[in-house]
Amino acid sequence: MASLFSSLLLSLCLLSSPFLSNANAKSKLGFTADLIHRDSPKSPFFNPTETPSQRLRNSINRSVNRAFHFTEDTSANSPQVEITSNGGEYLMNVSLGTPPFPIMAIADTGSDLLWTQCKPCDDCYTQDDPLFDPKASSTYKDVSCSSSQCNALEDHASCSVDDTTCSYSMSYGDHSYTRGNIAADTLTLGSTNNRPVQIKNVLIGCGHNNSGTFNEKGSGIIGLGGGAASLITQLGDSIDGKFSYCLVPLTSETDRTSKLNFGTNAEVSGTGVVSTPLISKSPETFYYLTLESISVGSKKIPFPVSESGTTEGNIIIDSGTTLTLLPAEFYSELEDAVASAITAERKEDPKKVLSLCYSATEDLKVPIITMHFDGADVKLDSSNSFVQISQELVCFAFSGSPSLAIYGNLSQMNFLVGYDTVSKKVSFKPTDCAKM
Ligand SMILES: *[C@@H]1O[C@H](CO)[C@@H](O)[C@H](O)[C@H]1NC(C)=O
Ligand SMILES: *[C@@H]1O[C@H](CO)[C@@H](O)[C@H](O)[C@H]1NC(C)=O
Ligand SMILES: *[C@@H]1O[C@H](CO)[C@@H](O)[C@H](O)[C@H]1NC(C)=O
Ligand SMILES: *[C@@H]1O[C@H](CO)[C@@H](O)[C@H](O)[C@H]1NC(C)=O
Repeated sequence: MASLFSSLLLSLCLLSSPFLSNANAKSKLGFTADLIHRDSPKSPFFNPTETPSQRLRNSINRSVNRAFHFTEDTSANSPQVEITSNGGEYLMNVSLGTPPFPIMAIADTGSDLLWTQCKPCDDCYTQDDPLFDPKASSTYKDVSCSSSQCNALEDHASCSVDDTTCSYSMSYGDHSYTRGNIAADTLTLGSTNNRPVQIKNVLIGCGHNNSGTFNEKGSGIIGLGGGAASLITQLGDSIDGKFSYCLVPLTSETDRTSKLNFGTNAEVSGTGVVSTPLISKSPETFYYLTLESISVGSKKIPFPVSESGTTEGNIIIDSGTTLTLLPAEFYSELEDAVASAITAERKEDPKKVLSLCYSATEDLKVPIITMHFDGADVKLDSSNSFVQISQELVCFAFSGSPSLAIYGNLSQMNFLVGYDTVSKKVSFKPTDCAKM
């Protein structure tokens, strides 16, 4: 591992997190990392005994669980963000410190902090790979609790009683948690063009007390949310606030990795691109869009206006949720419209997870579904709107939401999805992601 890394490091790029220095902020970067799907044979989570339809069932289950944790507690003074650790489905291979120490962590657009299990461990979950040892990294620095970096963690950070280091505590929706201290160190991101990118002074969580549903194959989480502590925000100017991904449909015969692009590599341009504003709303972690209506064929169904009289920022876009989830009444209107446009006989999902299903052997003629985001009409392919959940059944890949409306990843497959956190917009371009 080490030798592979040192040879790749021969031609690396250097930049610095804006938290500690703006020295390199002028140099614009473009790089691309592999997103290793947990169900891909390259992933340590891969379970070869599962069939593709079992994997899909499991992912729908995880996705519904995740939605339950995306709740906003509006009664509290500061909104409580609950995220779930089993929601992140893509792993990213990165390295921390000097010399670079490899960690395989879950990439998650639903949270901000990048953390890993650190030595010494007060209480860690079992991890197959060795733990990161701050003492072995010459570039590791503790962050003080009076610093702006510590403030970036807001409610999650505090000053330890006995010293001045910045402590953090992060709880996830499923009662998993990580506690430790905030530090800064060099992060090396493997790049698909074999030129790893090194970023100095990245804010990280060094977790000394971590517990919950974390898997022994993973050593932490990489938060790609919109909050101040997120890697995206930390890369800031150097990537012009841009990242994009293209999710390859998961089928039995492909193990193609999806790509996560940063900076100049994350431009989404050319024919067919549509863009919609990113709405700033609390919590900053989530990426909010405005969905005005959905068309089924020529029938347009408006998104219900909220109590505050607006539709602005009514849906979050998330790479880690499978289904597209909508408010219950809206979903049921949509389902009625889709059902009445299809002549085939409805079948029941024996597991009762999805409600509009048909026989998989039927030559299903599905209506064209168009998502009308503010300024961006996104026309879904039938493979975005319907999903085969077993040998027998094909079902509508939308559902009623227990909490927030979420634009899920089945709807995003085979689109290049670009986030521009500076110009505040999200762009979609129909793309064959396996060919990227
Ligand atoms: C992750 O990086 C390590 C260290 O470079 C390498 O040995 C390993 O094969 C990589 N894993 C994947 C799935 O790319
Ligand atoms: C998914 O969840 C449902 C209901 O909670 C359960 O009946 C079903 O067995 C689960 N499916 C899988 C594949 O775990
Ligand atoms: C979508 O997210 C789910 C749940 O997080 C995951 O299991 C699934 O494989 C993802 N699908 C795609 C196409 O990325
Ligand atoms: C780890 O954190 C948990 C939850 O706050 C706490 O109960 C436990 O005492 C901590 N363990 C150690 C060794 O500090």
